[in-house]
Amino acid sequence: MIINNVTVSYNDEGPENAPVIIFIHGFPFNKSMWNLQVKALKDKYRVITYDVRGHGKSDAGNDVFTIDLFVKDLINLMDALKIDNAILCGLSMGGYIALNAMGKYPERFNALILCDTQCIADTPEAKEKRIKAIESIRKTGVEKYADESIKNLFASGSFITKQKEIAAVREMILKTSEQSLCNTLLALSHRKETCNILPGIKIPALIMVGNEDKITPPASARFMNENIKDSIMKILEYAGHLSNLESPYEFNVHLKRFIASIY
Ligand code: MLT
Repeated sequence: MIINNVTVSYNDEGPENAPVIIFIHGFPFNKSMWNLQVKALKDKYRVITYDVRGHGKSDAGNDVFTIDLFVKDLINLMDALKIDNAILCGLSMGGYIALNAMGKYPERFNALILCDTQCIADTPEAKEKRIKAIESIRKTGVEKYADESIKNLFASGSFITKQKEIAAVREMILKTSEQSLCNTLLALSHRKETCNILPGIKIPALIMVGNEDKITPPASARFMNENIKDSIMKILEYAGHLSNLESPYEFNVHLKRFIASIY
């Protein structure tokens, strides 16, 4: 489907008239990271997963990547699929997009699921790290970047128990072009904070985080939990930054229970 002049790859599963849940993946992954969640939900719900531009099978287009542009893509995808409102679930970068979308288009969402994410903008040190990452991708290539990233993404135990998942994530990173990696790193580094919108969120919210998440640690989740009224927080054991892949059973139990409480 063409959205904002870009071919966007998406999956639309489950009964057509069922309540809709939209999943947004993290950086630099793609919609396949949600396969286990789609499988768990598609009998009862309409489940949409899509590749953010420049990721997976979606084109990059010619516009400068920004979180605002990614939000525009999301809303236009919802319009094109005739989805008035949905439950929105985002992991990490997906959460940045979800929070930004929530701030701008609150009427389009019934509930929010924020996984391994945060509301703050990049600190000067984090921005510096992004620039270094861009330089290193340009100099030493995507493969080295993938191997370095993997070290931070997972809980220590996952390196023993989740080798298949780690290999799949490595593959997702390797399939992202050098240009899209660099452009998205810039978009992430320029993103605005969304902490100011948390007190205004009036829809149910579930916040999940891996207890060994080094990138967006449980403290970030706790902050969002304290600032979104009546939100629920779940800290998942044996999980790092990719809690839906590392603790899929626990993750899906919380996910299904939360969604069942909405519809
Ligand atoms: C992600 O998983 O989307 C990234 O770790 C987000 C980030 O680098 O801020």
